[in-house]
Amino acid sequence: MPAVRIGICGLGTVGSGTVNVMARNGDEIAARCGRPVEIIQVGARRDNADCDMTALNVTREIFDVANNPDVDVLVELIGGTTVARELVLTAIANGKHVVTANKALIAEHGNELFAAAADKGVTIAYEAAVAGGIPIIKSLREGLVGNRIQWLAGIINGTGNYILTEMREKGRSFDEALAQAQALGYAEADPTFDVEGIDAAHKLVIMASLAFGMPLAFDKVYTEGISGVAREDIRYADELGYRIKHLGIARRTSEGVELRVHPTLIPQRRLIANVNGVMNAVLVNGDAVGPTLYYGAGAGAEATASAVIADIVDVARTLNVRPDQRVPLAGVTQDSQGNLDD
Ligand code: HSE
Repeated sequence: MPAVRIGICGLGTVGSGTVNVMARNGDEIAARCGRPVEIIQVGARRDNADCDMTALNVTREIFDVANNPDVDVLVELIGGTTVARELVLTAIANGKHVVTANKALIAEHGNELFAAAADKGVTIAYEAAVAGGIPIIKSLREGLVGNRIQWLAGIINGTGNYILTEMREKGRSFDEALAQAQALGYAEADPTFDVEGIDAAHKLVIMASLAFGMPLAFDKVYTEGISGVAREDIRYADELGYRIKHLGIARRTSEGVELRVHPTLIPQRRLIANVNGVMNAVLVNGDAVGPTLYYGAGAGAEATASAVIADIVDVARTLNVRPDQRVPLAGVTQDSQGNLDD
């Protein structure tokens, strides 16, 4: 079988993690794909000392990758929504499949991108956009597909959970803990997204779109972050037997789907109250299966790379299938305004 030819755009934390894991586990990944997977080009504005640049064919012009006729799958890891949207639309117009870790891009422009991809018969895969390495997109799209989902709730921002944990366990200040999360590569380029709940809102609407079959409705989320949480709040919560956790919640109601992200008091005995550091956890309640819980690292180079590579393998497997027989990975229906009748 010929190799699947990958072009990666963006060589930051997740890009270098992806390059490193692909190099380390390449043989197993190829075996699972049924064909070799080769990174044939990388678009990066600057080098990254966290991976071996000598092994890579690097261009400083990321659109070279989207226009490279030899690239089968473009992996978008540049972040942001303006250039990333153009890049993904260019790749789709050129008939390439797209893998992205960009939750802002999917949450804010996903409806447009999925439509463009459907027109061209290509796939956009975005497992890495939500909850880092946890395969929650696959679980919602495949594992729970027989259920009517009642609600889902989760800790879906690793940086925020890391900050709250450091403040509680080590008495660190908010600013110290945030600086540490940035040094560890957990935070967004603009950490306001993490601490003001925007990143969690992006992830929540992506999960809700799959769980409830609704369009991506980022503007419908009630969004509150953790920037107003003080060490005293955490201490008082502890004394009363609670933990403060930042949750994203999506719930089916008689009037539609309620979407909200905000700090929440959770009794200490609950499993989710004991999810600490960069770890994420998502609870999903389906009518058939009941409550299910997904847990793992919500950010970081290799945890997120794990999800990026899962998508690469999924897309690579579909390349063996005739376009008219492919099951779309995007899986979002376009025909509702987010108000589900009960
Ligand atoms: N900044 C994000 C987080 C990265 O901390 O969860 C992973 O999406």
